[in-house]
Amino acid sequence: MMILGIESSCDETAAALVERGEIVHASVVASQTDLHAEYAGVVPEIASRAHVERMLPTIREALARAGVGLGMIDAVAVGHRPGLIGSLLVGVSAAKALAWSLGRPLIGVDHVHAHLYSGMLRPPEASGVEAVAFPALGLVVSGGHTSMYLLESWTGVKRLGATIDDAIGEAFDKVAAVLGLPFPGGPNLDRLAASPGTNAQACEFPISRIAPGSLDFSFSGLKTAVLYAARGVPGARGAPAPELTAARRADIAASFQRAAVEAVILKLRRALDGPANGVGTLVAGGGVTANSLLRARLSGLAAERSLRLVLPPPSLSIDNGAMIAGLGYHLHGAGRVADLSLRAVPTSAL
Ligand code: KG4
Ligand code: ZN
Repeated sequence: MMILGIESSCDETAAALVERGEIVHASVVASQTDLHAEYAGVVPEIASRAHVERMLPTIREALARAGVGLGMIDAVAVGHRPGLIGSLLVGVSAAKALAWSLGRPLIGVDHVHAHLYSGMLRPPEASGVEAVAFPALGLVVSGGHTSMYLLESWTGVKRLGATIDDAIGEAFDKVAAVLGLPFPGGPNLDRLAASPGTNAQACEFPISRIAPGSLDFSFSGLKTAVLYAARGVPGARGAPAPELTAARRADIAASFQRAAVEAVILKLRRALDGPANGVGTLVAGGGVTANSLLRARLSGLAAERSLRLVLPPPSLSIDNGAMIAGLGYHLHGAGRVADLSLRAVPTSAL
């Protein structure tokens, strides 16, 4: 079964062709980074207009790269929630038009749910990915979400905890802006933190715990602590913040990254000692799983707890259409097919 996956929830226009929920024949992502860079953040109106211009060329490119004609598509899956409403509407409209004109099923996919699935995808030349033994613990760390889930199957997902304020990716992006790094902040901060001679212990930033036993996340306090370390505490009498030299910026970046990643690891440990006790697999996805320190710490945790770790390659960590088509395959198998009344919705259902 060949599924066309369409993604347009934020600032990436993406389309992919995925066979049997697993084999990625093509995954094309048209990034809008250049359009939003001067505003240091995504401007919704610019994003939706760019999706309109790029959607059809992106789908055509994916079909051409895969060597697949429109008649060979068995279903059309689209990320219809959560996201910027104007952006979502472009993908949803394109998917409806294609599904209707081809007479093929339409599948509405929750973008956050699809991030969880992204580690199951592979290129045609790679050998098959082993099936996940459920129940499994799931983690999504992205620009808009930071949550943990208990997965009973690919379609049966229960939320264990979520951020009560900022998402981790948003914190990476805001901290990068405070440190004067170019948009998009997360990958640039990752690189700066890894520069030689950097001290990740230089600043004692808070690792959020919330209440004992809580499985929720919080990153706004950490973000404020970084702001004060970089610019000084407003109105404080004591010593002013040290000069923001290149070395100090790198130390702040590394110290922030350590605190943010440790907060995630701490909550995963709590989940593994609590409701996810006994799971054999940890699946993780979302843009921040491209982060080098988080990848290393997740591998360490998996080794320590004898877990199988399912992580997407960095190219599928960020938004893409392949994860939409991949999860769409399982939703289709479970009979969760939509019709032309499918709506674009700003929030996740997970
Ligand atoms: O999943 P994604 O592409 O979009 C959302 O669904 O939000 O995630 C984007 C987020 C951005 O905040 C970006 O800065 C962050 O992922 N990100 C990273 C890295 N690569 C992307 N954060 C830290 N380190 C990275 N290497
Ligand atoms: Zn995403």
